[in-house]
Amino acid sequence: MRTKIKSILHSKSPELFLEKEVTIAGWIRTVRDQKSFAFIEVNDGSCLANLQVIIDESLKNPDFTTGASISVTGKLKQSPGKNQALEIHASTIRLYGKSDPAKFPLQKKRHSFEFLREIAHLRPRTNTQGAVLRIRNALAFATHLFFQKRGFLYVHTPIIAGSDCEGAGSMFRVTTLDPTQKNKDFSQDFFGKPAYLTVSGQLEGEIIACALSDVYTFGPTFRAENSNTSRHLAEFWMIEPEMAFADLKDNMECAESYLKFCVQYVLENCIDDLQFFDQFIEQGLIERLIHVKETPFEHLPYTKAIEILQKSSQNFVFPVEWGIDLQSEHERYLAENYFKKPVILTDYPSKIKAFYMRSNDDGKTVAAMDVLVPKIGEIIGGSQREERLDILQQKILDFGLKSEDYWWYLELREFGTVPHAGFGLGFERLILFVTGMENIRDVIPFPRFPGHADF
Ligand code: 4AD
Ligand code: MG
Repeated sequence: MRTKIKSILHSKSPELFLEKEVTIAGWIRTVRDQKSFAFIEVNDGSCLANLQVIIDESLKNPDFTTGASISVTGKLKQSPGKNQALEIHASTIRLYGKSDPAKFPLQKKRHSFEFLREIAHLRPRTNTQGAVLRIRNALAFATHLFFQKRGFLYVHTPIIAGSDCEGAGSMFRVTTLDPTQKNKDFSQDFFGKPAYLTVSGQLEGEIIACALSDVYTFGPTFRAENSNTSRHLAEFWMIEPEMAFADLKDNMECAESYLKFCVQYVLENCIDDLQFFDQFIEQGLIERLIHVKETPFEHLPYTKAIEILQKSSQNFVFPVEWGIDLQSEHERYLAENYFKKPVILTDYPSKIKAFYMRSNDDGKTVAAMDVLVPKIGEIIGGSQREERLDILQQKILDFGLKSEDYWWYLELREFGTVPHAGFGLGFERLILFVTGMENIRDVIPFPRFPGHADF
């Protein structure tokens, strides 16, 4: 039976494997031919490290080249080499698939991330992408652990939506109508009305929270905004907790604890991959993560943040005045330069936030919160929700929305309304934050962005 390389190299008691026969399988990373024997480095993706295989003259094969897939059976021995503790002395090798070295695109040198994006079918075989995908997996697991431990239920909200939760008006349409047909009649469409890919599961999350108390969603989310930046995707994954009988303070506590839990989890479970990122992607990464885990986040109302930005000597591209939607340059200045740690901004002007956020008594601001982190800017957006029926009705009108579209949302306030709050975390932004990677297109295996919907 095949053993994964991780379970050998990361075993709590590797001595159990010593002098025993094992079979591993994976892809050849490098071959170093010596006179009477050869070293083959094999990687199976289970961990960053390769396992070194030693083969003698009789097993040599010119088809053992970088990229080829093999399985190896042999005895595991202590390695005299300084780079690894264990190695396999092969007794048999099976070649599964050859890989012509003249054509295989992944050479030993480091490739640019731009180049690797063009070969999305092979980039998971690189160290960086392997490490990203293992950390992505760990963060998904940590997310479920965190919320499950707190008694949140994981709920599934629809991907096809009939309304625009964020009021942003940048949704992908879902239709079976003939695209060449002029003057389309959407009453004849599949759903009998216009339908879209969801921008958020929040409103449906609220429905379930207003019955089961604490819930979270974790699913794909779609935005058709033409944001060609290193922080935006057209298809990204979002985690959206929603809590009944909770206010903005509870929301902030949950967001901060969740981020810290994720950081703690990868520090405990993915240290090899983090060391790799620390060495090759962002020097000081591990120290930064430990700092995040140990430091209380700064809490600050939007109005104070505007004052800080106005007093700074920074030359911002977008001028700062009360009422503006903060740009990532402003958010990063606050988290990166001014406070040098994650910041939770609250109480934004109601005009720049979604209709469902709870109005503050000043009549100008809402109980919103954005969590801003160094390097990224906004990583979480959330709020306490407006639970007062009359105020919500008025806001829907003020925002130019149609009450008919939100009748069910309003009924939640009519029948047994409760204070409730929640937030959304962009999963890929969390991965950027934890790995130090620069571009969001490199932390999702198949990125979707303007002009890119291929494999
Ligand atoms: O701030 P947003 O738009 O909030 C919502 O969607 C709320 N319904 C969440 C809630 O309260 N339940 O998005 C939440 C987060 C952002 O902070 C950001 O991290 C991420 O989603 N995000 C994106 N990530 C990648 N690409 C995009 N185009 C993103 N747009 C938002
Ligand atoms: Mg936001």
